[in-house]
Amino acid sequence: MYPAKPIIIVNFKTYPSSTGQNAVRLGKICEKVAFEAGADIRVAVSAPDIYPVFQGVSIPVYAEHIDPYTPGKHTGSVLPEMVKSAGAVGTLLNHSEHKLTLGELEESLERASKLGLVTVVCAATPARAEKIARLKPDFVAVEPPELIGGDVSVSTAKPGVISESVKLVKEKHHVKLLVGAGIKTRADLLKALELGADGVLIASGITTAESPEKALKELLP
Ligand code: G3P
Repeated sequence: MYPAKPIIIVNFKTYPSSTGQNAVRLGKICEKVAFEAGADIRVAVSAPDIYPVFQGVSIPVYAEHIDPYTPGKHTGSVLPEMVKSAGAVGTLLNHSEHKLTLGELEESLERASKLGLVTVVCAATPARAEKIARLKPDFVAVEPPELIGGDVSVSTAKPGVISESVKLVKEKHHVKLLVGAGIKTRADLLKALELGADGVLIASGITTAESPEKALKELLP
């Protein structure tokens, strides 16, 4: 038995096919598929793309990262206030491609929560996920870094990582669990859900697909 409406977060990262004008184009595709299929699809986009994507779609837009600083003298930083005013309703944190120290993570979580942003904190292992779950983010997302961007999914290569994370994150700390890395197919998604995950984080399977619309439709249960 798995959730009828799994959460799917499409992480746009910095692919040319999912940044700038293409971020808006891909955001609209995600919105179209979400509406047609009645699916819970959310998009995580780079800071410069938050506002244009937010203007173009009505599905939830998340930031890919925030810095924990307070407004003021922080050149080049992306503050929670900035992503919120640009239209983001949530943020990824500590992605393995943009890691934070534990101190930075704690501060970022506090800052994001105060502003009402949904927090999705990434972890590379179940043990790390358990430590993060203690900080009570809205979601922990477990992604084995070595499988990110590849063709073999966490569901196929490391199902034990999913089951272990279900125990340590969901059962022990009652925090929702997403998994990701190499997710491409409906079978990958269903396996993750069967093992107890609430949804997936997916990037290259959609962002670099010849037809992102077809890839998304074929992913959905
Ligand atoms: O945040 C999702 C991501 O790291 C997974 O990437 O390309 O393996 O789906 P990908």
